[in-house]
Amino acid sequence: MSERVIPLVDQRHTGFRTPAAALSTDQLIQPNGLLTDTLGRPLSDLRISVTDRCNFRCSYCMPKEIFDKDYAYLPQSALLSFEEITRVAKVFVAHGVKKLRLTGGEPLLRKNLEVLIGQLSALRTVDGQPLDITLTTNGSLLARKAHALKAAGLKRVTVSLDGLDDEVFRRMNDVDFPVRDVLEGIAAAREAGLGPIKVNMVVKRGTNEHEILPMARHFRGTGTVLRFIEYMDVGATNGWRMDEVMPSAEVVQHIQSELPLVQLEPSAPGETAERWGYADANGHHDPALGEIGVISSVTQAFCRDCNRARLSTEGKLFLCLFAENGYDLRSLIRQPPEGQDGDALLASAIGHIWQGRGDRYSELRATLSPDTGTGGRRVEMSYIGG
Ligand code: GTP
Ligand code: 5AD
Ligand code: SF4
Ligand code: SF4
Repeated sequence: MSERVIPLVDQRHTGFRTPAAALSTDQLIQPNGLLTDTLGRPLSDLRISVTDRCNFRCSYCMPKEIFDKDYAYLPQSALLSFEEITRVAKVFVAHGVKKLRLTGGEPLLRKNLEVLIGQLSALRTVDGQPLDITLTTNGSLLARKAHALKAAGLKRVTVSLDGLDDEVFRRMNDVDFPVRDVLEGIAAAREAGLGPIKVNMVVKRGTNEHEILPMARHFRGTGTVLRFIEYMDVGATNGWRMDEVMPSAEVVQHIQSELPLVQLEPSAPGETAERWGYADANGHHDPALGEIGVISSVTQAFCRDCNRARLSTEGKLFLCLFAENGYDLRSLIRQPPEGQDGDALLASAIGHIWQGRGDRYSELRATLSPDTGTGGRRVEMSYIGG
């Protein structure tokens, strides 16, 4: 496979669009919970980034050399307020969204996040059901916040952890953060009832692949679902190279060499992870031993069922993790055209934007030019959310 290095650029403030049709009052789309894109994919999952800051500097996400003390993070005034986020989320829910994921950066760095969770948890799906509200965190502040998050209405958490060996983990988070504190965060989340807990491990060949088995042994039989993620070429600053990607098939094979696995059926349409259950002596899945997941965005694209929209910290709507441009919803919220109903317009704009969506970056990756990809100007994952 060819090697590819992505060049450095900052693409946050350029090229944001709002399509003309989206703002046209004679083509208003009213939400009916049944929105689909050009490939027939429904909109059912909204990821909301609540801050572009993080207290870690994972080399694959916020490399220290770029995200240094001079890095220009978004000013407070640019951020959507909790009320604005809730207002946008409500419109997405009317269009059929059932799951909300709060991300960052590190979402627990956003002050009073539980207030936002309280507001979001009052929303109901089109069928009148509570939403699945979850959060992706590096775990560093979880021990302190788990109970308040649960009390506010958070259902579950996903914690990132790239290894159990302290030296390896400290090297990957690049701020000398110890494994022990993340494990304490996970324990606190479990105690608070924020389950089922998932743990995400990004596998980088040459850096942490020897942590795969220790991590599998550690979480097997605990009820926590460990998921291995292929290192992705997301953003434009991590210097991604194909030879540092460990294909999920290899991860599964490696675990199988010690701990037998059987493949499980998907639990939801459009799921990112392929599920594998730990097997008993007869080769059947033993639910008491639990399961793992593999997320193979590089070697086995899952764009076909991608039902995820992303709202950036400053209120831009992105249709793909690898998008170069987003749609400016914040200006629609803050300055709706005179005499128009802001929420109706917002709903219609989101409808038009999703109906025009054809993004499927991971499926196309192999056919893109090796040097430039889609132009090498993609937004960072810390800005758009994981
Ligand atoms: P669950 O509902 O808990 O299963 O969540 P999830 O798998 O949808 O979300 P999570 O944020 O835990 O996703 C895990 C990782 O998968 C992310 O950190 C990304 O690395 C990757 N990922 C998630 N969504 C996408 C996507 O739409 N495209 C690609 N290429 N990768 C994704
Ligand atoms: N490749 C794969 N996953 C990534 N994440 C961040 N950067 C990358 C990357 N380059 C994911 C990790 C982390 C979450 C916040 O984002 O899963 O847990
Ligand atoms: Fe922070 Fe998560 Fe990115 Fe690491 S992967 S730098 S913890 S946002
Ligand atoms: Fe969805 Fe884009 Fe990821 Fe494909 S690459 S699964 S379209 S976010």
